[in-house]
Amino acid sequence: MIKGDSEEYDLLEKWAKFDCQGHYSCEIGVRQGLGSKIIMDNVTNNYMHVGVDPYGNLSYQHYDEKFTKNWPQRWRGEFKTDYTDEMRDTLLKDFYEYRNNGKFVLANMKDTEFMMHPEWSQKTYAFVHFDGPHMSKDVLTEAVWFANRAAPHARFVFDDTDKCEMSVIAYALTLFGFTSHGMGEKKCLLARNLK
Ligand SMILES: C[S@@+](CC[C@H](N)C(=O)[O-])C[C@H]1O[C@@H](n2cnc3c(N)ncnc32)[C@H](O)[C@@H]1O
Repeated sequence: MIKGDSEEYDLLEKWAKFDCQGHYSCEIGVRQGLGSKIIMDNVTNNYMHVGVDPYGNLSYQHYDEKFTKNWPQRWRGEFKTDYTDEMRDTLLKDFYEYRNNGKFVLANMKDTEFMMHPEWSQKTYAFVHFDGPHMSKDVLTEAVWFANRAAPHARFVFDDTDKCEMSVIAYALTLFGFTSHGMGEKKCLLARNLK
């Protein structure tokens, strides 16, 4: 059973019913794989789906200080969760069929490494789920990187939008032709040329 750790997967499923017209789909932050599974099961005509995740049980700051002011200390600043290499190995087993059919590849690295990678930098992306680090500066950096490599009709879905400066990110993406096309409590869809 492939699990997720977020909410509003129904929205992700709805927004992922979409023709990628031969371009890549991508998820930053794969964990146990529910987000990627939903994307792969719903998009059509994607060249391949790439999941980006370093696993390795990293310690990092997940959210901006301003969104965690009233949280217990253990969820503030840098902390470790359970994103282990064992989780990665289970994910790779669970996604065996997708991998074997050339529909999924894991880029087992951080977003920053992915964005500097000569191969991945040259691809074009039609659908991206941003669900890795949630610090506003990290999401903004990712969003601009993908906007520069986005298909003309691309869709970007963001998770945990209540815990980052989503309005700043959405405004930055208007400079690339993206506008808002759906909003839940935690997820939102930005897209361009949506018919
Ligand atoms: C909230 S979970 C993702 C949940 C998943 N999308 C789902 O739907 O179940 C966050 C994931 O982001 C990964 N992550 C943390 N830092 C990262 C980084 N710098 N680049 C890419 N992924 C990262 C973690 O290893 C973890 O698996």
